[in-house]
Amino acid sequence: MPVNTLDSFAIIPTGKALCAEIRGVDFAEPVPYDVRDAILKAWAEHLVLLFRGMSLDDDQLLRATEYFGGQQEAGSRGYFMRAGFKPGETKSVSVQPGISVVTNLDDDGNLQNFAKAFGNLPLKWHSDNSYVEVPPTGSLLHALVVPIDGGGETSFNNQYLAYETLSAEMKTAIEGKHIRHDGHRSTTGTLRPTMELPQTRDDITGPVHPIVRINPLTGKRALYLGRHYEFPSSHIVELNDEDSEALLVPLWAHATQDHLMWTHDGWTAGDLLLWDNRCTMHARTPIDHTQPRVMHRALIKGDPVISPWD
Ligand SMILES: [Fe+2]
Repeated sequence: MPVNTLDSFAIIPTGKALCAEIRGVDFAEPVPYDVRDAILKAWAEHLVLLFRGMSLDDDQLLRATEYFGGQQEAGSRGYFMRAGFKPGETKSVSVQPGISVVTNLDDDGNLQNFAKAFGNLPLKWHSDNSYVEVPPTGSLLHALVVPIDGGGETSFNNQYLAYETLSAEMKTAIEGKHIRHDGHRSTTGTLRPTMELPQTRDDITGPVHPIVRINPLTGKRALYLGRHYEFPSSHIVELNDEDSEALLVPLWAHATQDHLMWTHDGWTAGDLLLWDNRCTMHARTPIDHTQPRVMHRALIKGDPVISPWD
């Protein structure tokens, strides 16, 4: 079967609030401009794209980021390096800065065979690296080894729709407001190396982003909540602690409703997911700790967050 031609290219929407499967593309081979443009158009329309049957090494995965703007180092890597880890010493500091290893194997390659191991924990809803000044526009996640019975199902939600379906009252309430994003904890909720649990909002030192951002790929507005842990955590800078939480709690409930969501519940080795961090969030169920799971992720270089209000 030929790949990477417009004749081979096919889009199969999930029929849910987001995501389509793309057939006829192989990132192991060069992707010509016309096919790249077709992928970008599908990405703009469906927000999350699923490619199956890939077999990409890290160089090929990083090369795939070039079609979408290039690679970006993961923010989490810096926390481990500041704690003294050198590249290659731990899976959390990969040799190639653009690659993150997402796995339940320890640094010696042994299975972390208990449910509460870091690599087996569920991941809370989040947008990747919202705690850095210029968050990555997208992420590529490539499954290399997956548990036989699944586990680690990954869900995505459509934050254009989340914004569009807000009540007029809620839209007014968030108008002109910004969130300071908390990077103290990973998306498992565990503290990052060298970080201490914040005690007040002044301990949160991440960047400030507008609650709504414009995605330059589509020109559309999306809700941009990033991440949220128990207070003190990400908060609305224009409101006091109490009022910030009183607005964020219903916003999060609205943004994570089931009808805004699609779940990849059948990970297969060779799957590659591409998602847009500007207009989606994602979350993951716990991993079956008795079975290995190995995925490699590459972040796509960010573009400055565009506010609808400035
Ligand atoms: Fe993530």
